[in-house]
Amino acid sequence: MTEIIHIAPGEGDHPGIGKAAAILRAGGLVAFPTETVYGLGANGLDAAAVRRIFIAKGRPADNPLILHVASPAEAGALTTAMPPAAGELARRFWPGPLTMVLPRSPAVPEIVSAGLPTVAIRVPAHPVALMLIRAAGIPVAAPSANTSGRPSPTSAGHVLDDLRDRVELILDGGPARIGLESTVVDMTGPVPRLLRPGGVTVEELREALGPAGLALDGADPERPAAPGMKYRHYAPRAPLTLVLGEPGEVTSRIAAELAAARGAGRRLAALVHSESLPDLSGLGLVMDLGPRGRPEVAGERLFSLLRACDEAAVEGILAEGEDEEGMGRAVMNRLLKAAGGRIMLAGGAKR
Ligand code: TXA
Ligand code: MG
Repeated sequence: MTEIIHIAPGEGDHPGIGKAAAILRAGGLVAFPTETVYGLGANGLDAAAVRRIFIAKGRPADNPLILHVASPAEAGALTTAMPPAAGELARRFWPGPLTMVLPRSPAVPEIVSAGLPTVAIRVPAHPVALMLIRAAGIPVAAPSANTSGRPSPTSAGHVLDDLRDRVELILDGGPARIGLESTVVDMTGPVPRLLRPGGVTVEELREALGPAGLALDGADPERPAAPGMKYRHYAPRAPLTLVLGEPGEVTSRIAAELAAARGAGRRLAALVHSESLPDLSGLGLVMDLGPRGRPEVAGERLFSLLRACDEAAVEGILAEGEDEEGMGRAVMNRLLKAAGGRIMLAGGAKR
């Protein structure tokens, strides 16, 4: 049985925290809210507990986990080297949606890192996550709390849908504020390297890193450097097609596709920006990604909308793309992964 305990964000000292911390210390699994997505946590220093995460998620053994700690000082104990640039990023972005890959300390079990000599570390910015980590008094290993390959959970309900009876306790802290996972940056090379775009934008990282710079090639959707980014990912059950081009042409193309599908008796869903809604009304299951140019809104909604498409059992999904600026880069990264290469160019668009 999976127990669910609700904790309002402002609520300090909730008895649920002590209960969750005890489960973690005893080697069990607890799902908890973070500002990005919900995590599936285990004692990060206990190899047997960490193994249970891989089993519960059906996660490939070669995909390493992130260790969550409550302060930069605790991060220091998990790595053999904190380069100055990493110290600077920690000062600027922790607690927050940034994960840094650093040389792994021998204190960290190999299974956490899937055998790599490095370890991914993050200080999350959610009060419930921080209280839990402090109460447990251990680093908490936690991937996103979805079954492997599914969209990450942005609510306790999503976690329950995926992991019912495979996790002892879910702390329900309400909907995730950011809705996309943390930004992952590899700090072990001569130049910090983006492995996964996420809650901290490339623009913010570049500003913080200054002349040290940031390499982007590690996050190339076709040749990703993070082990986890090579898998089909963030995927709803129905095939998703990304429609790219000028906004007007994208809307017209989606309208035409929806009308044709309807004529053929196929149920499709469309994920579009608010501006496109009037042109698509009555044509199918049309969902709102928020206004164009507000990628944080699209990011907050995306995974939840993909899951809603599954609930509606549609046969296919058409999604509008996002400009790759700010949070738009992370949104597009997830859409490209979910599409797994299915891209439609509207009008005369080139990619
Ligand atoms: O926002 C987040 O990061 C959420 C919350 C729960 O913190 N966690 C999360 O974990 O998204 P997960 O396991 O779903 O994604 C972690 C990513 C994977 O792509 C993994 O391959 C990469 O980080 N990663 C972890 N350790 C790594 C390492 N040592 N070297 C390179 N990539 C690593
Ligand atoms: Mg994940």
